[in-house]
Amino acid sequence: MSLGDHPWLYLFLLLHLLPSITGFLQYIPTDLILLDCGASSSMTSQDGRNWYGDAHSKFYATNPETSFVFTASEQKPSVTQVPCMTARIFQSKFTYAFPVSPGPKFVRLYFYPATYSNFDISKSFFSLNANNYTLLKNFSASLTISAMKPSKACFIKEYIVTAWENQLNLTFSPSPSSFAFINGIEIVSMPNNLYGRGNDNPLTYVGSDGNPFYLDSTTALETFYRLNVGGEDISGVNDTGMHRTWLDDTVYVFGGQLGSIPSYTPDIKIKYTRKTPAYTAPELVYGTMRLMGSNQSVNLNYNLTWYFSVDAGFTYLVRLHFCQFIPEVTLPNQVVFTIFINNQTAEAIADVILWAGGNSVPFYKDYVVWIPNGSQSKQDLWVALHPYMEQKPEHANAFLNGLEIFKLNNSGGSLAGSNPEPVSASPEQHPVPKIMKHKGSLQVVVVIGVVFGGTFALSSILWVFFHQRKRELREPGTREHKSSWRPFSYASSSATIALSLPTDLCRKFKMAEIRASTRNFDDENVIGSGGFGTVYKGYIENGSIPVAIKRLDSSSRQGIREFRTEIEMLSRLRHVHLVSLIGYCDEQDDMILVYEFMANGTLRDHLYKTKNPPLPWKQRLEICIGAARGLHYLHTGAKHIIIHRDVKSSNILLDSNWAAKVSDFGISKTGPTSESQTHVSTNVRGSFGYLDPEYYRRQQLTEKSDVYSFGVVLFEVLSARAPVISYLPKEQVNLIDWARNCYRTGTLDQIIDPQLKGDIAPVSSNKFAEIAESCVRDQAIERPTMGDVVWSLEFALQLQETAEKNVNTGDILSYSQKGSFVHEMITSDDKALLPKAENDDEVFTCKFSSSQKSASSSAVSTGERSSGNYDSDRVRSGAVFSELMNPHGR
Ligand SMILES: *[C@@H]1O[C@H](CO)[C@@H](O)[C@H](O)[C@H]1NC(C)=O
Ligand SMILES: *[C@@H]1O[C@H](CO)[C@@H](O)[C@H](O)[C@H]1NC(C)=O
Ligand SMILES: *[C@@H]1O[C@H](CO)[C@@H](O)[C@H](O)[C@H]1NC(C)=O
Ligand SMILES: *[C@@H]1O[C@H](CO)[C@@H](O)[C@H](O)[C@H]1NC(C)=O
Ligand SMILES: *[C@@H]1O[C@H](CO)[C@@H](O)[C@H](O)[C@H]1NC(C)=O
Ligand SMILES: *[C@@H]1O[C@H](CO)[C@@H](O)[C@H](O)[C@H]1NC(C)=O
Ligand SMILES: *[C@@H]1O[C@H](CO)[C@@H](O)[C@H](O)[C@H]1NC(C)=O
Ligand SMILES: *[C@@H]1O[C@H](CO)[C@@H](O)[C@H](O)[C@H]1NC(C)=O
Ligand SMILES: *[C@@H]1O[C@H](CO)[C@@H](O)[C@H](O)[C@H]1NC(C)=O
Repeated sequence: MSLGDHPWLYLFLLLHLLPSITGFLQYIPTDLILLDCGASSSMTSQDGRNWYGDAHSKFYATNPETSFVFTASEQKPSVTQVPCMTARIFQSKFTYAFPVSPGPKFVRLYFYPATYSNFDISKSFFSLNANNYTLLKNFSASLTISAMKPSKACFIKEYIVTAWENQLNLTFSPSPSSFAFINGIEIVSMPNNLYGRGNDNPLTYVGSDGNPFYLDSTTALETFYRLNVGGEDISGVNDTGMHRTWLDDTVYVFGGQLGSIPSYTPDIKIKYTRKTPAYTAPELVYGTMRLMGSNQSVNLNYNLTWYFSVDAGFTYLVRLHFCQFIPEVTLPNQVVFTIFINNQTAEAIADVILWAGGNSVPFYKDYVVWIPNGSQSKQDLWVALHPYMEQKPEHANAFLNGLEIFKLNNSGGSLAGSNPEPVSASPEQHPVPKIMKHKGSLQVVVVIGVVFGGTFALSSILWVFFHQRKRELREPGTREHKSSWRPFSYASSSATIALSLPTDLCRKFKMAEIRASTRNFDDENVIGSGGFGTVYKGYIENGSIPVAIKRLDSSSRQGIREFRTEIEMLSRLRHVHLVSLIGYCDEQDDMILVYEFMANGTLRDHLYKTKNPPLPWKQRLEICIGAARGLHYLHTGAKHIIIHRDVKSSNILLDSNWAAKVSDFGISKTGPTSESQTHVSTNVRGSFGYLDPEYYRRQQLTEKSDVYSFGVVLFEVLSARAPVISYLPKEQVNLIDWARNCYRTGTLDQIIDPQLKGDIAPVSSNKFAEIAESCVRDQAIERPTMGDVVWSLEFALQLQETAEKNVNTGDILSYSQKGSFVHEMITSDDKALLPKAENDDEVFTCKFSSSQKSASSSAVSTGERSSGNYDSDRVRSGAVFSELMNPHGR
């Protein structure tokens, strides 16, 4: 008997299998239109999709003769040919009519605001309607893109529009005496009920006293954010059939409290259900999460918070995706938390296991929130999680796996926001905030990620390009740390450590000794904590020698490899400006490192976000000189070049004499071993805000990458602010961009720490800024060596000292007005006239001025968590990607 003889058998099988299969299959769009506007023939894009050229397309409701077709005059780096390079331009109203099936569709619009023949793209303003909805009104693609951070060349806006009949019309209407343009149009259907439709399914309307909100199919949506929380970027081809892109959420997490991220284990099986079918979100979204962390008392004291810039005066749909996949959590009331949206309780008691029905079962919840229009056209939307303890759950924790935010059309059927303000040429005067503080209403929230304001703005084409690069370069075995992740205890990892450590150079401690020295890891002894674990102060040798004891949290990404690198590097290096490793302990599943104690904490702790008094200028210079010598030694002093790779202000520690020491060698690398080799190829690691753009672009590591990061530190020291502050006006978000601009326009005053007023001789600060600027040049070859940096910094110190001596006569200070003086002084011929750099190995002592002596609240005693050796802000590739999306933007 064959099936062919019994057609009913097919039917039988279909009817039986269909319901169970549908829960597990990807979605196959019934409508999929990819239109490469202005192209004359079909072309394949970089992600392997086939785009129609629209020259001969059948999608016109207006005579195409009324429009123009041009190729962009320039292909900016990373702009892909398809669909960005060609455009169709309209000087009068123009309609595309797409035949589609009735139902909701994704409409994705691709814009590349470049020069097309003699059309000045900055003069393009237009409106766009999709059937009876207004998607754009007097929209300027060039203003929109100029406000994006990081800057970009080509961007996408994504909408969800329901077609009522078999037609979806897109009508472009140029503003008076202007023109419209479009590079690509993508229409993809979706399951009817994907985004909260249907009157049987009211959504929680946050802040409306329990009134339900019905989101029906007459509502059009614009995608603002779609994040893979705790995970990496997911490109369209890896979505569940609808080609949505999901981005790493790191840059949206508020206040540097990043919580922790369990390591991804590919063997997690996500159990999709009928309520949450497989097309809802990819396994990679549900299989990664961000949670508060393993320390419950820390968790009780903060909210895990994300914030997003949105257009005021609209209602937003916030979809939160959850999937509790941590093996230990299988029952209700183990992890219970409260969800706040915009400071209001959206969900008092969220128990994901209870909602979803088990471990590894995905579940999502939709919330609707109204963002009233205030004084600014952009407002913040906050999402915060906090453990809910009233029910006495087993663990004080909270987590999130994915998040989507959509704008809903207003009563007039419009989704259009206003254009961003044109970017002014010169930066306005804004005081530098000393402390990262978040106000309720922010002036301009520039999101460093990929979305700015009303624009879902990622070019997935660019994305795919970078993503593939990233994947190619990921070292095999990055995920070797497969020990099952335990959220609430230190995981076992010693089984996988096979250390062959140099016990002759580095002492191996017994766990008992470590416990004794820290009073069994007493809370009183904690001096720092971060993604890697916790740092304790301890005393060894019968309590006579203070040490810093770093206990690695096995859930940290630092892991065994970094533990090992740190020991191997540090045990072989001895230098007065490198922090000394005294020993380690790898007993009892613990990874512990013992360092010399640095009484004055990290350099960052004396610059910003601190209760410590500001450091005087000369002391800052001396600290920079010390750190520069440490790095110089790394680059030249050992047998092979050692590249630190994570130079930042929180990795420069200060001892009780204020001598600077470079720390954290967890990701350092030995440089090229032969003369002919000039770089090592490696996957990109480093910290957000400090990463050398050329290193990222070329994936080739040289010691000049450390020079770049050190340049960022120098600017931090000068300005007492963080390298990236996302909520500042956009020209100031990135310290390096802003500092360069000020340096170029001779307005350095704007970035100098106001606390240095009167303390700093302009001639010295100019010299200092010049060094810093040379360190952060785009091209590694233009950057000085660390040896040059040491020398120049010493010169800056000399200038300061001379200026102080001559302060009455004003001799040198007067030169500061003439920028050229400084420049001339450092031509290499003059070097001989100046004191030689001191011997690297000489002990470096600092002189204290009276003001510093009184300046003494240690990072330890203030109760402020020292951020020493944090690696929590070390970037993962996603953030690197965002930061360097446009390497030319700098
Ligand atoms: C689309 O445009 C065509 C031509 O202008 C018109 O006949 C049709 O009714 C429109 N369809 C919708 C759904 O607006
Ligand atoms: C369109 O926007 C530009 C700049 O935002 C503005 O100058 C212009 O007046 C606007 N035009 C219309 C018709 O609203
Ligand atoms: C899609 O995911 C697979 C498996 O995770 C990965 O190998 C591939 O590179 C991804 N494709 C893109 C374009 O990101
Ligand atoms: C968490 O957020 C809520 C709502 O904004 C607030 O009431 C609460 O005080 C916050 N808790 C902490 C510990 O910050
Ligand atoms: C606020 O919204 C109302 C209606 O939605 C509008 O009339 C008003 O101009 C808006 N105010 C501001 C400051 O944008
Ligand atoms: C658009 O048209 C549909 C069908 O005619 C209608 O139900 C909906 O209310 C309209 N929306 C707006 C904003 O006019
Ligand atoms: C959050 O709500 C509390 C209590 O209502 C209020 O004091 C606080 O200012 C609000 N915070 C923000 C950011 O709106
Ligand atoms: C959690 O952090 C607190 C300090 O906030 C500390 O006292 C306690 O020892 C930590 N607990 C663990 C298990 O690390
Ligand atoms: C720096 O270290 C010295 C010596 O331990 C100490 O007296 C001083 O209080 C510390 N200052 C700060 C700001 O931590």
